[in-house]
Amino acid sequence: MPGTRLSRRDFLAASAATTLTMMSPIAFPHVVGSDRLKVGLIGCGGRGTGAARDCVGSIEGLTLTAMGDLFADRLESSAADLKAGLGERYQVTGETMFSGFDAYRKVIGSGVDVVILTAPPGFRPAHLAAAVEAGKHVFMEKPVAVDAPGVRSVIASGETAREKGLSIVAGTQRRYEPGYRDVIARIRDGAIGEVVAGSCHWNQGGLWMYPRKAEWSDVEWQIRNWLYFTWLSGDQPVEQHIHNIDVINWALGATPVKAFGTGGRQVRTDPAYGHVFDHFAVELEYPNGAVVTSMCRQQDGTATKVGELLIGTKGRSNAAGWIKGENAYRFEGPRPNPYVEEHIALIRAIRTGTPINEAKQVAESTMSAIMVRTAAYTGQEVTWDELMASEASLVPDTLEFGQMPVAPVPTPGRSLA
Ligand SMILES: NC(=O)c1ccc[n+]([C@@H]2O[C@H](COP(=O)([O-])OP(=O)(O)OC[C@H]3O[C@@H](n4cnc5c(N)ncnc54)[C@H](O)[C@@H]3O)[C@@H](O)[C@H]2O)c1
Repeated sequence: MPGTRLSRRDFLAASAATTLTMMSPIAFPHVVGSDRLKVGLIGCGGRGTGAARDCVGSIEGLTLTAMGDLFADRLESSAADLKAGLGERYQVTGETMFSGFDAYRKVIGSGVDVVILTAPPGFRPAHLAAAVEAGKHVFMEKPVAVDAPGVRSVIASGETAREKGLSIVAGTQRRYEPGYRDVIARIRDGAIGEVVAGSCHWNQGGLWMYPRKAEWSDVEWQIRNWLYFTWLSGDQPVEQHIHNIDVINWALGATPVKAFGTGGRQVRTDPAYGHVFDHFAVELEYPNGAVVTSMCRQQDGTATKVGELLIGTKGRSNAAGWIKGENAYRFEGPRPNPYVEEHIALIRAIRTGTPINEAKQVAESTMSAIMVRTAAYTGQEVTWDELMASEASLVPDTLEFGQMPVAPVPTPGRSLA
């Protein structure tokens, strides 16, 4: 397996380890309702295991009481990690460990207060809807859908959560980095004038892939290799580059109106990599006319470039930390771990009775990333309005292990979505 995936996992593992060893538990002075909260984890892979540590391991009064994953082997290895890392805060028992397609329902029904949703993105709308229906607070990883019906479902669940006073925090962790918060507040206050152009990038090498085992059905093989199937991951713009697109939407206070661009599958052509592309370059046009380049790539041996730049009538900025021009500025404040900060914000919101609800914001960034993918797949100019209204659903209503043909690699000029 290529090493890049390991580096992402290593980073997450390292962030979790830092959390456990360096952060003292956080206490909250104004507690509404119970100070003690039970947390359930749904999707026990690399990020889910890290998120459970970042949440339960960092904040006083939390216990992890239930875990669910489609696959028993993933469940068990995550449970072993978390048991070792969380000590007494690990309260999961044989009766509260669940596997299978309905594991999420069992975790949600096990008496937890908060759920962490970290299964592949194609499942997120259904998992969120069930959690909100059952009155649970939610931390959910980005992206939150892979298609327009999923995006609309997440927005609807967000509205229901608002009515019920539930909190939903999304794993767009740049929103919890003080450098981004500071610089983006300044951009929104006019520090670089009117934004006229920009670029956002996530270019890197390849990620992990699990070679197919003879005993795996089509469905098992695809879900274990979910990155490479659009119905599960949304493809790279949605699965990964959404972080950068979300920053642009945040800085501009808007979502794109149009997308036009290109992309393809040039290097990662083996069928083991499903049907996704390995590079995209798309222009996003915003309501004020600003044009932002969105570029992403996963090709081994190529240069890495990840970040967000904006150009305005009075200067330019790197959204992560500086502004040049009339209002030059460099952020030099503390940089706490945003993977922990997002959970601190969620738990504080629950305990103080002041809900946070990021469902619509992350759903709209997911849709913006779907525009990038669709512009490249189809080779056409696509608009927000037409894509938001789309009824094209990529995710089957019901799933079981068995046969599932692989959808063809999209062909620009011929593919419709
Ligand atoms: N915010 C970030 O920086 C960041 C970093 C990495 C991943 N992520 C996101 O986190 C999510 C998970 O990514 P990961 O890297 O942990 O992937 P992963 O493959 O390591 O973990 C996914 C887990 O979900 C399980 N799963 C699959 N289908 C399921 C279902 N229907 N019900 C329950 N469990 C199911 C898998 O068996 C696996 O254990 C993705 O949405 C990804 O985009 C975010």
